[in-house]
Amino acid sequence: MKVNNLIHISEYKDIEDSAVYFLSEESCSLGDSEIEKARINLYKNKEFNGNLSEIISFKIINEKKINSIIFVGTGNKNMIDSYELIEAIENIIKKARSMKSKRLDFHIPIIDNKEKLKDIIRIISEKTITNNYDFDKYKSKKEHKLMEVNIVIRNKIDVELDEKLKEGNILAKSNILTRNMVNEPANILYPQELSRRVKKYGEEYGFEVEVLNEKQIKSLNMNAYLSVAQGSDKKPRFIIMRYLNNKESSNILGLVGKGVTYDSGGLSIKNSESMLNSKYDMAGAAAVVGTMRAVAEMNLKVNVIAVVAACESMVSGKSYKPGDIIYTMSGKSVYIENADAEGRLTLADAINYILEKEEVNQILDIATLTGAVVKILGSSATGVVSNNSEFYKKLENASYKSGEKIWRLPIFKEYRKTLKTDDADLTNRSGDPSTITAALFIEEFVQKKPWIHMDIAGTALYSKGSLYGNGSTGVGVSSMYYLIKNLNS
Ligand code: BES
Ligand code: MN
Ligand code: ZN
Repeated sequence: MKVNNLIHISEYKDIEDSAVYFLSEESCSLGDSEIEKARINLYKNKEFNGNLSEIISFKIINEKKINSIIFVGTGNKNMIDSYELIEAIENIIKKARSMKSKRLDFHIPIIDNKEKLKDIIRIISEKTITNNYDFDKYKSKKEHKLMEVNIVIRNKIDVELDEKLKEGNILAKSNILTRNMVNEPANILYPQELSRRVKKYGEEYGFEVEVLNEKQIKSLNMNAYLSVAQGSDKKPRFIIMRYLNNKESSNILGLVGKGVTYDSGGLSIKNSESMLNSKYDMAGAAAVVGTMRAVAEMNLKVNVIAVVAACESMVSGKSYKPGDIIYTMSGKSVYIENADAEGRLTLADAINYILEKEEVNQILDIATLTGAVVKILGSSATGVVSNNSEFYKKLENASYKSGEKIWRLPIFKEYRKTLKTDDADLTNRSGDPSTITAALFIEEFVQKKPWIHMDIAGTALYSKGSLYGNGSTGVGVSSMYYLIKNLNS
């Protein structure tokens, strides 16, 4: 089964085999007598009122077949918000998959607000595909997947709705592209393999990819990045992705993704339990790659350049050591107080490169940077630090579209003091609150350009035992896509 053939949109016609009905507080005619009767009874007995988050499932048996029906309440149908809708869809898909359904029909009531309807179509399309995904390439026995999904609407279908179906599709496939990279173990996906895959995606989806090897990285003086990489036998690769599709504008957004393909902690070695998640430390990198795919495939009229300083942080006789002092590409010196605070070192050089060599004028970095962000926001929201409220507002608007929650953390000027150290310009182990002070370390390299930092250490993975999935969430792809889509408006 190909995921891109999974979803169709059609106008309401006849009885359906199995279905999900989105029902609002106001009644809506379902057209089908059996289901209509059931609905009227449920409403009359107040067993189902169409309220938000209400969900009820039952079977209708007629002489030919058994129909599985799920009613999902939407509250006021013109006010459904993306967080609620996404949660409802996740529950429905999981339920349908556990019931081993082959086909699922979403019935949508007439929606008067066209923009709302477009959002609903896009979200159903995107979330159905992402929830039908498992990382199962190494498993001989696969979980059941849906084969066919129809979105049945009572409004007239037009080009704009088809366009939304397509956008949802592309966002879902980009999300899955990201998750596939993140979920790949570090023995398979190391810097060179990551660079090979990105090169292939560039050719496939239409963005330019350039890859620098160790020698080229050396000649650029990216010594902070190289210090992190030097303990490993796996060579670093610096990956540059360019998508310049708006000649009239001189605006170029720079994306920087943390691409540590394995974070052992270096000589400040992690314990064995936390090391189990070390392969996920390139989730930021994978998210910018997924975003580039979505942007290119949707042919957005924008200019974006993304970079990833891919490397592996390992322990060996060549490892950089706590107590070392190193130079970043920018010329600022850094005292290595903790070898496990490696992400900011790779990001500092990647950001300096993208500003000096690619001439971007605004920057977004995305990274699994600090364990502390989980203490602040749990796995619910990405922690964001920014030096520019206007830029931040655009990401906030994008996050309402994507349904990926974000929360802005403050920059109080006293936090900057924790970056100071005796013998060098900066220390890499800034004090508490470490999510913010790690961001402020990065801010030292953005040259006062509008900048957003997304710490996805809490949101990049499904928490253990989650109902919705395991491994990578692909967080960031949809939000960055919408940020880019609406960047110039
Ligand atoms: N990649 C980790 C952050 C991380 C921790 C991500 C747990 C996901 C789960 C990062 O490189 C790191 O080790 N950060 C340290 C910094 C500290 C040594 C200043 C941290 O947050 O503990
Ligand atoms: Mn680390
Ligand atoms: Zn790390």
